[in-house]
Amino acid sequence: MTPNHTFEDYVAEAVSVSVEGWDFSWLHGRATEQRPSWGYQRLIGRRLASVSAALDIHTGGGEVLAGVPKFPPTMVATESWPPNAALATARLHPRGVVVVATGDQPPLPFAAEAFDLVTSRHPITVWWNEIARVLRPGGSYFAQHPGPATVAELVTQILGPQPQLWARWEPHTQRAEAQAAGLQIVDMRMEKLRAEFFDIGAVVYFLRKLIWTVPDFTAEPYLARLRELHERIVADGRFVTHPTRVLIEARKPSVLGA
Ligand SMILES: C[S@@+](CC[C@H](N)C(=O)[O-])C[C@H]1O[C@@H](n2cnc3c(N)ncnc32)[C@H](O)[C@@H]1O
Repeated sequence: MTPNHTFEDYVAEAVSVSVEGWDFSWLHGRATEQRPSWGYQRLIGRRLASVSAALDIHTGGGEVLAGVPKFPPTMVATESWPPNAALATARLHPRGVVVVATGDQPPLPFAAEAFDLVTSRHPITVWWNEIARVLRPGGSYFAQHPGPATVAELVTQILGPQPQLWARWEPHTQRAEAQAAGLQIVDMRMEKLRAEFFDIGAVVYFLRKLIWTVPDFTAEPYLARLRELHERIVADGRFVTHPTRVLIEARKPSVLGA
């Protein structure tokens, strides 16, 4: 696509491409997103190398997990969206990881205390009670969650402000939910990052791929809002929004009440 393309050209292209998997290379040159400074993949890599049995929840197409150098003897990943479960299996099976296709509701299909470590990056919902149940005493949950008001400028442009949705991901809400499930928070950090979109096709692709940003997004009902945004991007050269991320490490006490 070149700057001479019309709004209609950008939208038509962006609604026709596949959004399966968790590879964002289609956006190369059309959007950028800053990553948190803590380096999630490196941090899970370190932890996975030192446990016996681990579970990655909502593994997507397995892209992040596949970048880890060494897995524990038992490594399991769950995925609830069938196209991604197939992609994750193809990517992770050769590395000895079992991908379990689950439903999108609890329970997790594992016995209590099955894992030393549970990881998850960008889960859509967090089943705290299930995480606590499948962790052995002394085991840990290590995750990078979406933060509060993530990409708020973009959501506001399309839907208006969503305070209720944003409150769910507040660190204090996450902390309270983890504690209610019996987990102790060991570390919790938040970063506000910068993302830029250089054409409206990139915005449409992003909203189709991150389907929970504007729930059940399709371009058609939002064409007027998208056209406004297109005009802003043409005038300013870019649209800037701010993803937020929360790093969480939580521990299941070794002894009840400890
Ligand atoms: C944000 S993705 C994160 C995937 C992976 N953990 C990562 O960080 O790369 C979270 C979940 O959303 C699911 N998902 C992605 N697109 C979806 C869609 N169109 N409909 C339903 N679920 C979808 C993924 O398959 C995954 O389980």
